[in-house]
Amino acid sequence: MTLFRGTFLDTPADPFAGGALRAEDDGAIVVHDGVIVTRGTFAEVRARHRDEEVVDLSGGVVLPGFVDMHVHFPQVRVIGGLGMPLLDWLEQCALPEEARLADTSYAAGVATDFVRGLVGAGTTTALVFGSHFAGAVDAVFTEAARVGLRITSGLVVSDRLLREDLLTSPERALEESVALARRWHGTGRARYAVTPRFSLSCTDELLAACADALAAAPGAMLTSHVNENVREIETVRDLHGCDYVASYDRHGLVGRGTVLAHDVHPTDPDLALLGERGAAVAHCPTSNAALGSGLFPLARHRAHGVRVALGSDVGAGTGFSLLKEGLQAYFVQQLLGERGVALAPAHLLHLATAAGADALGLADQVGDFSVGRRFDAQWVQPAEGTPLDVGLAHAASSEDALARVFALGTPADVRGVWIDGALVSGETRDAASALRVV
Ligand code: GUN
Ligand code: ZN
Repeated sequence: MTLFRGTFLDTPADPFAGGALRAEDDGAIVVHDGVIVTRGTFAEVRARHRDEEVVDLSGGVVLPGFVDMHVHFPQVRVIGGLGMPLLDWLEQCALPEEARLADTSYAAGVATDFVRGLVGAGTTTALVFGSHFAGAVDAVFTEAARVGLRITSGLVVSDRLLREDLLTSPERALEESVALARRWHGTGRARYAVTPRFSLSCTDELLAACADALAAAPGAMLTSHVNENVREIETVRDLHGCDYVASYDRHGLVGRGTVLAHDVHPTDPDLALLGERGAAVAHCPTSNAALGSGLFPLARHRAHGVRVALGSDVGAGTGFSLLKEGLQAYFVQQLLGERGVALAPAHLLHLATAAGADALGLADQVGDFSVGRRFDAQWVQPAEGTPLDVGLAHAASSEDALARVFALGTPADVRGVWIDGALVSGETRDAASALRVV
């Protein structure tokens, strides 16, 4: 057993349903076999656990590991391609790089960069948009398993309108998806997600093959894109003759295990269908701004009971940090004025943690620091004298401290990251001091 000491902030009660931020100043969490078995103030917990090793994370704050609902593994090396709308950016920036992952040794290098980027930003669970190549998907599952990251991922499939070398057939898509799901779904912390790229690049036959793949892997997820860009949406309407969500739903692809990214321009029937099916939307605010896709209508999602959580959407998104996504989500709602949702720091933390855990069906395992959850955590501890350090020193309350973390925090401030109670990221020097026994 290990006793972690620090200031713990989490959101076990949904702030969108009236819940408040939970803050434990100088708190303690005892972890046994990766699971939280006790929590409380350090003084009281230490009195009951005198012999346990203490990991001292005092100073800064300890947050639940982030849950990134939408992040593209093959795009880590093209982050920062600005100045283009979605379809141009795909053609000029993303897809040429994605084609390089046909080379499995290249893909292995990308997988290393990708997993390091995620855990370095405090992300411990992610729904990862994979590659069009089975060998590359294997590479990202392998690297995530080596580091310990909790990922759900799968083979991306398309059979029209993308460059030729990224296309497949319905038969091959089914065969390769099922083979990958057999290898990885439920192996360690990995799970499988059937992944049609977007219905723009998928025929009805391919979407039907996706439904077959889903049926062949019970408990697997389904992830794709929806309603991101007005030109894209018009094309989907021309090709499928229906609203965007219906293009998936017709094939039985929209349910509680479905996560669709973006949904910037939904129709009311789209939202009603998502709400009815219990599907979730990944809100990717830096990507929506970078590609000029639009302002996310969070209030309309809430009105239809659609579950929403944050995604970084690397590489259209501008980095791995869900602190930046949370801040950008806040900006967008501010810019929407009366149509926006007023987001407090607790909402941002919830969208970056527990909301994602819920959308991924992992709410009983991760997303907050309640007893019984697995200890997935990040220690945000800025270097002395940095603006965040100054900000935290002068915060008036826990909410205020959290607001400053979202406003000023970056991956450079994430000193250590734990999954199932084991350190997975953090410099040796930091780890050594973090592991100081009190
Ligand atoms: N729609 C289809 N593919 C992509 C992608 O790679 N990024 C984004 N942002 N939208 C997409
Ligand atoms: Zn995406």
